[in-house]
Amino acid sequence: KKSQAWSALFSEPMSELVQRYTSSVFFDKRLAQADIEGSLAHADMLAAQKIISAQDLADIQRGMAQIQGEIDAGSFEWKLALEDVHLNIEARLTQLVGDAGKRLHTGRSRNDQVATDVRLWLRGEIDLIDGLLTDLQKALVKIASENVDAILPGFTHLQVAQPVSFGHHMLAYVEMFARDAERLGDVRRRVNRLPLGSAALAGTTYPLDRERVARTLGMEGVCQNSLDAVSDRDFAIEFTAAASLCMVHISRFSEELILWMSQNFGFIQIADRFTTGSSIMPQKKNPDVPELARGKTGRVVGHLMGLITLMKGQPLAYNKDNQEDKEPLFDTVDTLKDTLRIFAEMVGGITVKKDAMEAAALKGYATATDLADYLVKKGLPFRDAHETVAHAVKAAISHACDLSELPLSVLQGFNPGIEKDVYDVLSLRGSLNARNTLGGTAPAQVQQQIARHQKRLSAG
Ligand code: ARG
Repeated sequence: KKSQAWSALFSEPMSELVQRYTSSVFFDKRLAQADIEGSLAHADMLAAQKIISAQDLADIQRGMAQIQGEIDAGSFEWKLALEDVHLNIEARLTQLVGDAGKRLHTGRSRNDQVATDVRLWLRGEIDLIDGLLTDLQKALVKIASENVDAILPGFTHLQVAQPVSFGHHMLAYVEMFARDAERLGDVRRRVNRLPLGSAALAGTTYPLDRERVARTLGMEGVCQNSLDAVSDRDFAIEFTAAASLCMVHISRFSEELILWMSQNFGFIQIADRFTTGSSIMPQKKNPDVPELARGKTGRVVGHLMGLITLMKGQPLAYNKDNQEDKEPLFDTVDTLKDTLRIFAEMVGGITVKKDAMEAAALKGYATATDLADYLVKKGLPFRDAHETVAHAVKAAISHACDLSELPLSVLQGFNPGIEKDVYDVLSLRGSLNARNTLGGTAPAQVQQQIARHQKRLSAG
């Protein structure tokens, strides 16, 4: 019996502690499917190149089918002593089919194998995430379409700025998530390249057909430098960067939902199933889901820092450091997927309290810019109009009323050109309708954007 997994070279077994420290099987077993797929593509090529026999290939295929079955059924016995997913599967294969199993690793190293597995796995996850981003965007477009005419105060510096359509506000997030999907699509192109065939670091002496393996695996091309192929984890960092940005968008959205749900805003209600109560304060309904999402954003950004730091001091080519890429990457994928899924559902359960939002928009002189624009149309230079309206706002503050509640005679005191039609622009709806430039908050514009998004999202 061998004292350890490697070879006759080793004179003593690993201690239990070192085994636990170096093994990755209890987290990298989630690469099993990708590992099997990669191995089958490699074996198919080895046979086509006459490096192994047709019988060997058939044996490998049969063995792998059984292993897949065992993994699916949960009966596959993962062994810590076999270190990782790759050695576990290979050992079982050899147990099942004998010599053919031992030939599988011809012209291959775990270094190009693991890089291939992670890429294959991540490609699949990116496609799932893309679907989840579409679902979330659809949910946002739906709530936008139901609230085009709902007005809330738009803020800058969290001070009331100008009235905006709630639908418009939701579509701002649709833009962010659309960019996230676009970014992931771009990352996917660089994920989808094949390291296999680079072997340990320098290539191999066998006449491998790397392009064939790339085609079998649906990859866009092969990595062109063997040293880079086995040691590059840019693709994982890029993915985690894109995921971090997506979580930042989720986090900003969460912050707004939390604010809007507080009694002092009261703009929305999120469905009870996304909130929790307090163990001491009977009146509480806390927005735990958006709060947690805001918190989990820190965790994903942390993974980005972890991965990027993991790489910074590594000499070429493969180093065992790289085994540490997996847990942050896996956790990033899990966190992002769960978050997107729960947000798509939660958005569908938001109740918009239009009256409260509109009442809030009436505070804070949100139509002051409209009054200035009105005066500009009467011929005043904008800077003078700005100054005039500042006086009008000051007067309204001292009367504790809105601009629209100042009598015409008072307004005319600030500028004699002001006429009765001024009240049209001082209303929230007048203000909203007037912002009819492309990308503006006028309902007509918002409707156009909704139509564009609906078309785009259903085309996918
Ligand atoms: N479990 C390893 C990893 O995740 C596989 C590659 C190990 N290669 C090696 N030569 N030790 O990176």
